[in-house]
Amino acid sequence: MDLMEAIKTRRSIRRYKALQVPENLLREVLNAARLAPSADNSQPWKIVVVRDEQLKAKLGTACNGQKFIAQAPILLVACGIPEEAFQTVGGYMSSHVIDASIALDHLTLAAHAFGLGTCWIAAFKEDKVRALLGIPEDVRVVALTPLGYPDESPERTPRKNLEDLTVFDKYQ
Ligand SMILES: Cc1cc2nc3c(=O)[nH]c(=O)nc-3n(C[C@H](O)[C@H](O)[C@H](O)COP(=O)(O)O)c2cc1C
Repeated sequence: MDLMEAIKTRRSIRRYKALQVPENLLREVLNAARLAPSADNSQPWKIVVVRDEQLKAKLGTACNGQKFIAQAPILLVACGIPEEAFQTVGGYMSSHVIDASIALDHLTLAAHAFGLGTCWIAAFKEDKVRALLGIPEDVRVVALTPLGYPDESPERTPRKNLEDLTVFDKYQ
């Protein structure tokens, strides 16, 4: 699958087959995240790979009761590390959320290209996720995604027109 096709056909997947993800595919999608760009090449992120059934179920609860995420054989938790990040993006912000998000976006597109499903999850209680996974205080939870074989083929969701999302020369 070429890149534009992957971008155009990826969907958020909320139903998963009870099928394991082969280890080599898991490594491929994690490697896609590894190759992502980051501010000053700081790579200030870490992904926690969760396969333990009980932990996945508890994480579903910590994600505002989104139980479907535990249906997938793997849950990935993308963490940002402020201490390792570029501190002054635009003169005012740390890059850890941007960098972790780009890595996760690389991962979701690569997963789709390999026939795997994902779903960005940002509705979560950080303190609960942190406690379940032993994530230190100075590391931030940015987003999660289940990873597994899709058991649904969702329709494309609508997008704004390019004209509504793009301006030329001056912001208007
Ligand atoms: C930052 C972010 C947070 C999201 N959080 C959730 C979530 O907590 N639960 C969920 O089911 N989907 C979540 N989504 C998925 C969006 O609902 C989905 O991407 C959007 O509706 C477009 O659909 P598509 O991904 O199939 O193109 C999230 C997506 C993003 C980018």
